[in-house]
Formats: sequence, C-alpha cells, structure tokens
Amino acid sequence: MDLFLVFVTTLLSMIIINFLFKYFFAKPKENILPAPPGTFGWPIIGETIQFLVSLHYGLVHKFVEERTKKYNSNVFKTSVLGQKVVIFSGPAANKFIFTKGKKLFIGWRPNSVQKLFPSTSFVHIEHDTKRAQNVISYLLNSKNVEKLISTMDYMSTIHLENHWKGKYEVIVYDLVKLFTFSLSIKAFMGIEDSEKILYFYEKFKIFTQGLLAVDINLPGTTFYKAMKAGNELRKEMKVIIEERRAKLLENLELPKVDVLTQLINEQDENGKYMTEIEIMDKVFGFIIGSYDTTATTITLTMKYLQEKPEFFTEIIQEQNEISRQMIPRKELCWDDIGKMKKTWSFVNEVLRNTPVVQGIFREAMEDFTYEDFHVPKGWKIYVSFGATQKNGKYFPNPMRFDSSRFEGNGQIPYTLIPFGGGHRMCPGQEFARILILVFLHHVLKNFRWEHKIPSEKILYPYFLLAIPRDGYPVTLSSVQASLHEKNMSKDVM
Ligand code: HEM
Repeated sequence: MDLFLVFVTTLLSMIIINFLFKYFFAKPKENILPAPPGTFGWPIIGETIQFLVSLHYGLVHKFVEERTKKYNSNVFKTSVLGQKVVIFSGPAANKFIFTKGKKLFIGWRPNSVQKLFPSTSFVHIEHDTKRAQNVISYLLNSKNVEKLISTMDYMSTIHLENHWKGKYEVIVYDLVKLFTFSLSIKAFMGIEDSEKILYFYEKFKIFTQGLLAVDINLPGTTFYKAMKAGNELRKEMKVIIEERRAKLLENLELPKVDVLTQLINEQDENGKYMTEIEIMDKVFGFIIGSYDTTATTITLTMKYLQEKPEFFTEIIQEQNEISRQMIPRKELCWDDIGKMKKTWSFVNEVLRNTPVVQGIFREAMEDFTYEDFHVPKGWKIYVSFGATQKNGKYFPNPMRFDSSRFEGNGQIPYTLIPFGGGHRMCPGQEFARILILVFLHHVLKNFRWEHKIPSEKILYPYFLLAIPRDGYPVTLSSVQASLHEKNMSKDVM
C-alpha cells in the first residue's frame, strides 16, 4: 500500500512539475509563418520545363505574371533545376532582395557555372564584387576615362572601316560581337594581335555555351567542350599572366590601362594578392560579362531604331548636333557622351522592353521572412526583371515602345533594373553605357540599314542573352562616301 502511495504521489508530482515547467519556462511555440504560395510541380522536375521554355522565348515575365495573378501575391514558390525557388517581382520585392543582399543572400548559379569557374570567385565570394567594382572604376576614373573613350572611338572606327564599309549585307550581331570582344580583350588583357583575338574569340564562344548546359563531362557534350575550351584558354592566360608579372617586376613599360595589370596588383584588406586561378576567373568573368551583353544591346538597339522611325529622326538629330559641335576635333570625349541623352533613353527603353538578362538568382543564407511568408535557409531566390519592367503599374502602356518615358522625372526606384541592383549590381554598367553610345554614334554617322527578315524573333539561346534568331541580317547603305579621314592602321579588329 505504502509503495502504491509512493508511486501515485511520484507520478502526480511529475505531472505537476512537467506542467509548471512548461507553463513557466518553456519557450512559447513560435508562430511559424507559411511559405509563399505556389507549387513545387512534378517530383524532381518541378516546373523546370515551363520555366526554361519561357526563358528561351523571353517570356519569364509571363510565367511570373500568370502565377502572381493566380496566387494573388508578387512572391511565390516553385521548383526549377532541382531547386526550391521563390520568385520575386515588383519594386518592393526587388528592393528587399537588392538591399538585404549582403546579409541574407549570396549569388547562386547552377552547377555548370561553378565547375567552369574553378576558383568560384565569379560566383560565391561576395567581396569579389567589390574587387570587380574597384578594378572597373580604375578604368573609369577621371584620369583614364578619356583614354578608354579614345580606345573605344578608335576601335569602333576601324571595325566599321574593315567590316562594314563597302558591304551590301551584314549580320549585325556577328560583327558587333567580334567588335565588343576585341574591345573587351584589349581593355581587360591588353591583347591587340588579330590572330590571338580570333583564337580567344572562338574558344570563348564554346566556353560560354557550357554555362547553362547540363554538367555532364563526357566527350561530345556541350559541357565537356566548354570545360576543354576553358582549360585551353587558361593555359594561354597563364603564359600572359607570367609575362605580365615578369614585366611588372622589372618595371617595364606596360600596356597603358588594362585590367589584368590591376588584378595582379590588387590586394585585399589583409594585403593578400589574388592567386593565379582567381585572376584568370576574374578576367573570364569580365570578358563574358561584357562582350555578349553589350553586343546584344547594340544589335537590339539597331533593330528597334530601324523599326521606330519616330524616334530614329530625333536620335539622328542629337548625334548630328554632337558631330557638328566636335569640329575640328575628331574623337569623342566624355562631354559628348553626356550629351547623348535621347540615345541613352532609347537604349533604356530597349533594355526595359527586352531585358538582355532576364533575371538573377540568389541563395538564402538563413531563414527569413518577407511580408507574411517564411523562406527557409538554402532556398533559391529568382528576381524577374521583365515582370517588373513590363508591369503597367510602373510603366504605363508597357507593351508600347516609348523612350520618352525616360525623359523628365525618372522612374520609381527598383523598377528599371537591367543591370541588377544593390551591392552586387553589374560592375560594368558605366563601361557598357560608354561603349554602346560610342559605337552607336559611329554607326549612325556612317550607315543606314534595312532588315532582311522583318518578322525575325528575339530568342534567348542557351537561356542566357536576348539575340535576334538570325543575328539581325541587314542591307547597308553608306551615309558618307568615306569614314573619318584619319591616319589609321588596319591591324586592329
Ligand atoms: C548592357 C550590358 C550589360 C548588362 C545588361 C549587364 C547585366 C548584368 C547583370 C544583370 C548582372 C548580375 C547582377 C546581380 O547579380 O545582381 C551582371 C553582373 C556582372 N557584370 Fe554585367 N552587364 C552588362 C555589361 C557588363 C560589362 C560591360 C561588364 C564588364 C566591364 C560587366 C561585368 C559584369 C560582372 C563581372 C558581373 C558579375 C558581378 C558579380 O557577380 O559579382 N557587365 N551584369
């Protein structure tokens, strides 16, 4: 009996203690918010097919728009490329991703990109964006920017003289890409030799095609070819870096302003220099980031210019006025770039209408809440540029091409975002602006063109950048009998 009493008393005491402990000490149960609305679709493949198809046809904004309407939320979840992804759109959501960027998110790119950049410096080391900005801002400081414009001016003139003048027909994208590549490789590595430029050009083309390919490294696959091209390029670059280092040690005269020298000399806050593989990946990143994006933007701008005569006329007037004021000076300078306001508004409208890059990926480094939703650590974030840029709330009559919308008061912040935003924003934005404007100035001054395929579609091959399907073939006519009468060599591409 006594034993039974002891047992009952002990049991009762334990229940009471447990109750009291829970009541007074236990943490209140967290109010876990729900994940954003949406569906992960089919097992493993999720909504990958729908997403990639819309990426290829430049219709990610439609993919986003349909779901935003369906879930009545500008943030929704899905599953693409085997990843749980939350897709964001609209200025408030964009601002959140771009400004909380440093603490909460890191850049994310698919496995193929990680493997093609062995130091992953283009991908995961966040302070590297700062380093990239430092290096580019060196090219653009007040001392160097005029030299850079002069190089761009000179190379544009030579390129048009060598590849456009006297031709009845050209494929705009193919030629402009060769030009922007030659310019990038000169600005970033100091290379001017035509044969070497062509060698690098072909290898980079193959390398870039592997960026969003399935990362199966077996002979014959796109990814295998890209890895092979990457290794061949690195071998060549290693030699160039070693030569440059030796010259720097001997204090020999170096190519005037180039990024490679900057990268070799660049130290982090602890005085540490970059490793060879980091330097190579950085140069790869700059070249890939610059030549295709700018070539695409120039090609699309030329296409829209030809299709929109109402804007063409005022842009020609702006460019002619600049040429008139330049006399007797022959080369463009920084002040001239500042005067190309209508031309730049037009380019902005092109980028709004047809974002060259459709969006960016990030990865959540910790759990976070946005509005009333909970997003767990490790989930990926996708910001769709088109979904905001083609939304009538922020750009009235969004399907109408109208570059005058960029004149006057400016836009709501975080609505026009072709270069991304926040601390990871494209470090080459200003470089791109100058290059695009310098080239357009020379093309407009010397040529008129007519499209050969009026119904040519704009697609995103390899899911990367917007390109007219056939490269925008045009027939050319010359504005002047001859280009500038300059003493120019014909060696540079
Ligand atoms: C019209 C031309 C261009 C467009 C539309 C463009 C767009 C972009 C976008 C959207 C990003 C991603 C930003 C982010 O993750 O938030 C990016 C990154 C980058 N861009 Fe550009 N870009 C252009 C030209 C250039 C040029 C000329 C350069 C080099 C001079 C360049 C170098 C880079 C680099 C190195 C990154 C990677 C930054 C990082 O992840 O740390 N881009 N660009």
